[in-house]
Amino acid sequence: MLLPLRLFLGITMVYAGLLKFFDPAYLDATSPNGVHSQMVAAASASPIGPLVSFTAQHAALFGLSIAFGELVVGLGILLGLWTRLAAVGGFLLSLSFFLTVSWGTSPYFFGPDIVFMFAFTPLIIGGDGGVLSLFVVIGRATRRGMRLAMPAPTHESSQITAEVERRTVLRSAVVAAAIAGGAVVVGGVGRLIAGSSSAAASGSAGSALAGGTQALPSPAASAAVIEQTQATPAGKPKGGVKIAQAANVSVGGMKAFTHPKTGEPAFLLQPKKGTFLAYSGVCTHQGCTVGYDQAQAQFACPCHGARFDASTGYVVRGPARKPLTRFDVVESNGNVYLV
Ligand code: FES
Repeated sequence: MLLPLRLFLGITMVYAGLLKFFDPAYLDATSPNGVHSQMVAAASASPIGPLVSFTAQHAALFGLSIAFGELVVGLGILLGLWTRLAAVGGFLLSLSFFLTVSWGTSPYFFGPDIVFMFAFTPLIIGGDGGVLSLFVVIGRATRRGMRLAMPAPTHESSQITAEVERRTVLRSAVVAAAIAGGAVVVGGVGRLIAGSSSAAASGSAGSALAGGTQALPSPAASAAVIEQTQATPAGKPKGGVKIAQAANVSVGGMKAFTHPKTGEPAFLLQPKKGTFLAYSGVCTHQGCTVGYDQAQAQFACPCHGARFDASTGYVVRGPARKPLTRFDVVESNGNVYLV
């Protein structure tokens, strides 16, 4: 009965883990779609916000742990190796997503993570039932190696049964470690491939600078911008923080930046020459980071499909109901300041 659920959860978890490993933006602290930006965005609305803020400081480590965890959980469930333990891992991963990216979804059943949490519970309670189970295969091999009858006779001594179990657990632990090692290798290959495509992308981003679109600056780069602004106050509006050079934002284009005070991803637009608009990149539905769709002049949320008008921030398509937060900006002496 649980095989369809195992198949779905196992494949989904493996796929989710691989997607993260092979995504060039996933560990990029400067990308609005990276795990760092997602954590910063989720922290403000999460009931475990301080913990999420702390983990955001080590986003790469936690991001890799999540991807590795998903891969291992998926393989464990698919192969039937320590299925209950794998299901507990899947439940905890889903719980962490529910408390962060899914928190605030209204009504609650629109969010997928609460459903995943409960989908893991039958496997926690019932395990794989010995069906298509690598653990059972290893147990049989152990009995064969000990030249014991199969299936175990009812009169078998409890000592022999315990010894078979001990050896089976040890062997399955070795197999699980080998699978985990394989997952590390696959993850490493994924990061290598993602790294090279990211390098290629940044090369083209450099040539796209003329188009005025740049990646998010790192926190250090943001600090440098603030410092530089303070060192050259001429023309700087009172209390303003420089976020870009006007020339770096093409007319009709977008420049992503990190809000210097909140650390959240944000976007600066120049819809008409000399007119600048800045919006938070945090979706008002559930806190995912939106992306900019230049062709439609809209912001699009990858999580549940909300869209926002880029000229007003208003919702064009739900499930979000509130507009994107807009920031006041002014241009002075060729620089754009957040005020
Ligand atoms: Fe749900 Fe953006 S987080 S639409």
